[in-house]
Amino acid sequence: MATVTRTGTTVWLTGLPASGKTTIGSALVRALVEDGRPAYLLDGDELRRGLSSDLGFAPADRAEHIRRAGHVARLFADAGLVAVVGLISPLAEARARVRAEHYAAGVPFTEVHVHASPEECARRDPKGLYAKARTGELEGFTGVDAPYEAPTDPDLRIDTEHTRVQDAVAEILARLPPGVR
Ligand SMILES: Nc1ncnc2c1ncn2[C@@H]1O[C@H](COP(=O)(O)OP(=O)(O)OP(=O)(O)O)[C@@H](O)[C@H]1O
Ligand SMILES: [Mg+2]
Repeated sequence: MATVTRTGTTVWLTGLPASGKTTIGSALVRALVEDGRPAYLLDGDELRRGLSSDLGFAPADRAEHIRRAGHVARLFADAGLVAVVGLISPLAEARARVRAEHYAAGVPFTEVHVHASPEECARRDPKGLYAKARTGELEGFTGVDAPYEAPTDPDLRIDTEHTRVQDAVAEILARLPPGVR
């Protein structure tokens, strides 16, 4: 049930590990909040520590993680916030279900593919996880030995090898539905 008149929305950032979801998501939330617009980053790492701490990385667990994040985002958006989700979310069908849940509730949803090549992501490797996946220390790592189903028709695709963070934020802001900004 909508509790406020201001329109909220969900911005869903999907992409390979180290593609830039958290970096861009944080900058986007900062820009919105500085502009007086309530916004919050629902980030995969944080959700994995709490909301989804009982889940692993098998496909069914990944689908459930995406479902939970999508549901929370939809509730945040329903409350009038801009819910920014930064989640690898490698499963296209699970992402489609999140979009469908939003539309069924009349909540706008913007899917952003945060893209960088697998080689570039592995080179950045800010958490050292690509290195661990390469040596076999970590199994089922997206982009190395678990699939990433890239969006075929995202609302926006940002190539972070050629787009600065501040320009990515501007592009996303320009795409937010009317009434949100
Ligand atoms: N144009 C850019 N946009 C975003 N990140 C960039 C860009 N150029 C370089 N980077 C760097 O790439 C790295 C992206 O890391 P970040 O944690 O944001 O990725 P992520 O998609 O959230 O990964 P994960 O799925 O592991 O959480 C950071 O070290 C960031 O500084
Ligand atoms: Mg991240």
